[in-house]
Amino acid sequence: MRIDVLTLFPEMFTGVLGASILKRAADPSLHPDGQVPATYHLTNIRDYTHDKHDKVDKAPYGGGPGMVLQCQPVWDAVQAVEAQQPDIKPLRILLSPQGEPLTHQRVEQLAAQPRLLLLAGHYEGLDERVIEALSEDGGLTQISIGDYVLSGGEIAAMVLIDAVVRLLPGVLGDEDSALHESFSSDLQGGLDYPHYTRPAQWQGRGVPDVLLSGNHAQIEAWRRLQSQQRTSQRRPDLLK
Ligand code: ADE
Repeated sequence: MRIDVLTLFPEMFTGVLGASILKRAADPSLHPDGQVPATYHLTNIRDYTHDKHDKVDKAPYGGGPGMVLQCQPVWDAVQAVEAQQPDIKPLRILLSPQGEPLTHQRVEQLAAQPRLLLLAGHYEGLDERVIEALSEDGGLTQISIGDYVLSGGEIAAMVLIDAVVRLLPGVLGDEDSALHESFSSDLQGGLDYPHYTRPAQWQGRGVPDVLLSGNHAQIEAWRRLQSQQRTSQRRPDLLK
């Protein structure tokens, strides 16, 4: 999967994309067949402004606080990035608190795409006309990571990238597979069961006997029950 990110703050991504699973997913030396699961391409929207002082934002028409990202640099950046690899049309995503909520089901759909283009707005947002124009010409999906407002779309874009890339084939080994975790179909979309490791006693607290029994059918049944109980106690909305 090719992932393009258009942002005014590409430096925010270096730590997150350069560590742990997201780094491994894009490391060619770990995928000797030449097929890396993910490639990341960061573009600074500011590189596309025609303003002689490199400005990309202006005060809103009608007054009010904050600044609005102008149409021209955003539009030109999207066109230029898409032209870098014209044979793969990306699914374009604008990170916005006004978008559809990001769910595990949506993450699975995104993981099936060959290319994502993530547009991270800052300030008060983007000029509505570039949102309209992108929507009408090739499409624009707006996604929110929750009902709260971040100071920009960058952190939301990183959340989305992390959730998507860990589902790509070849990213997680069998050890940390995504098959048996919260929201997985294996747990009927419910929450994960509790986990324990050595030692068997810690500060007077033991481990449930069944997990030490070696009886795999009973362990499986216990985990399923724990998952169901947790889901109905903590997230009854997931059972609907
Ligand atoms: N930008 C600002 N807040 C956001 C949110 N909650 N989700 C996605 N993008 C955002």
